[in-house]
Amino acid sequence: MPWPEELERVLLTQKQLEDKIAELAAQIYRDYANKNPVLIGILTGAIVFMADLIRALPMDLSIDFISVSSYEDATTHSGRVRVLKDCSHDIRGRHVLIVEDIVDTGLTLQHLRHILQDRQPASLRLCCLLDKPSRRRTNVTADYLGFEVPDEFVVGYGLDYAEKYRNLPYVGVLKEDAYRKTCGVNSRGA
Ligand code: IMP
Repeated sequence: MPWPEELERVLLTQKQLEDKIAELAAQIYRDYANKNPVLIGILTGAIVFMADLIRALPMDLSIDFISVSSYEDATTHSGRVRVLKDCSHDIRGRHVLIVEDIVDTGLTLQHLRHILQDRQPASLRLCCLLDKPSRRRTNVTADYLGFEVPDEFVVGYGLDYAEKYRNLPYVGVLKEDAYRKTCGVNSRGA
């Protein structure tokens, strides 16, 4: 694949991602081996991570997906999420692990956690590949975390910039001038 012009550098190589997923899978296996958990991936960014993670987990599990869009609530000045496509499992009494590509402000996950918690799962935890702690506006923390990343716009391995670059097999940093063109726009691309 040719080097995309809008990329500044590679942040995480394929090998680093592979090794980290093996580590995360070992932790998740240890905690869930006999619990038949439901892994709920947040569309669309989590699909590549989810696909690799589940193949590293030699145990019974179910997978599901949820699609949400985030927006700023003008009245409360807080983020809100709208469910665009709900998951199809009844999660009441099940052990649920949310699988997400990146936590940024944490607003999306904060609201999603409330939505899923209301359905009374046996447990609800979060597995996140990337974390940008410097931008956090909530107290959301991942129970299973891949990497902390700096406050730069990253793409690849499922993450997009204006719907591009999800198919890069590594995580790269977008050049700042490319990002500035759409600064302020959440490119979640559900
Ligand atoms: P939050 O609600 O601010 O935590 O938003 C998290 C969502 O924003 C992620 O699931 C991504 O879709 C998107 N996002 C945040 N930072 C990046 C980034 O650096 N690259 C691509 N998407 C990002």
